[in-house]
Amino acid sequence: MKILFYNHTGQVSGAERLLLMILARLHRDAVEPVVVCPEQDSLAEMVSDLGVPVETLGALEARFTWQVNHLARYCKSFFGVIRQFRRRVITIEPDLIHANSIRAGLVATAATYGLGTRVVWHLHDMLPLHPLSTLIRVFALLSSRTRMIAVSEAVARNFRGRFSSPLKNRVSVILNAIDLEKFRPDQTARRVIRRELRLREADPLIGIVGQLTPRKGQLELLRAFGQALPEMPHTVLLVAGAPLFNRDHEYLKTLERTALELGIRDRVRILGARNDIETIMQALDVLVVNSNVEPFGLVILEAMACGTPVLAAAVDGIPEIIEHDRNGWLVPPQDEGALAEAIIHLSRQPELRARLTEHGKQHVAAHFSAERYLTELQAYYRLSANFNWKALPADSTPGQAEAPKFA
Ligand code: GLC
Repeated sequence: MKILFYNHTGQVSGAERLLLMILARLHRDAVEPVVVCPEQDSLAEMVSDLGVPVETLGALEARFTWQVNHLARYCKSFFGVIRQFRRRVITIEPDLIHANSIRAGLVATAATYGLGTRVVWHLHDMLPLHPLSTLIRVFALLSSRTRMIAVSEAVARNFRGRFSSPLKNRVSVILNAIDLEKFRPDQTARRVIRRELRLREADPLIGIVGQLTPRKGQLELLRAFGQALPEMPHTVLLVAGAPLFNRDHEYLKTLERTALELGIRDRVRILGARNDIETIMQALDVLVVNSNVEPFGLVILEAMACGTPVLAAAVDGIPEIIEHDRNGWLVPPQDEGALAEAIIHLSRQPELRARLTEHGKQHVAAHFSAERYLTELQAYYRLSANFNWKALPADSTPGQAEAPKFA
């Protein structure tokens, strides 16, 4: 079966890392993948390196906004990309389109109007409280050939919103996964990276890894770290990641300024973009995930697999991965005091960290492997392709239908 994967941006963050994992591991005798994505940035090249054919089109420029002039520009971008995408679909003739975001899904469903192509939206994001979110849900509902895969139960619930009953069976959950061969404990890497950072083996190191943006809560972590530091003065905070969008460059400056103002600049290392996250993870004694919105949180799996204990805000998809005080440590979101306390608590208790690490490793291996993921996803594709979507009530989903209903 031929599947067209569409990614609306060429930048590689969590959703694209998952897509690359899928492409690398698809059973090529059963699935013939073709990727359509913008030419800019690194995704097209990375896909091509996997031996998967890529066709490029313009980048989609669209975000949630209240500003009418921006909305008009975004609409123009949508219509331009929809036209280009429709031409690709007509030549590629896929059996199914896997659209790797809500925005990609909107383009794919709109572009295939009248062609009858089945479209699966991969939901990696939470819809914000915004009138456009309601429009998106209605649009999805009205298309009987559109289904959704959510990366967590939290994302599925959020997408269904007030339409929980008609959208109930249209949205299936396939929890994300990682390549466990890439992320595993590695003492040599730990020593190398600590040397690079000029840290001694005994220096306590906590870190946050990911795009620099207010949603990831680096600023609040910095302040919580400032509160905790008098109790653990030798600890260093590592901030890995880069700003991807314009206003996030400002955020980076705010982080640097705040570290100076708090008098902790020498205890904070802002590393910028890194493509050796699996190595950085090894150097950390605790990974902190302090997002205020987090649909899933792939870094949590990556840290667990590398044997690094995780301290995270209990938000959105995160409690579906972490069980508090068993395989990780949870704190209430957006509570700097609680975060500071948890940082002190974990840094004082190596036995606790070792216990969380051990269970974390077991947990990720048992539930979040790429093998489990591809099995579920390919079963979903198989059912989707054989599935007579039209003959069934609009609220049925391939993965959840009963066997006799399939062709
Ligand atoms: C998005 C989400 C992140 C998730 C990733 C992969 O980047 O923000 O939480 O882990 O997609 O699904």
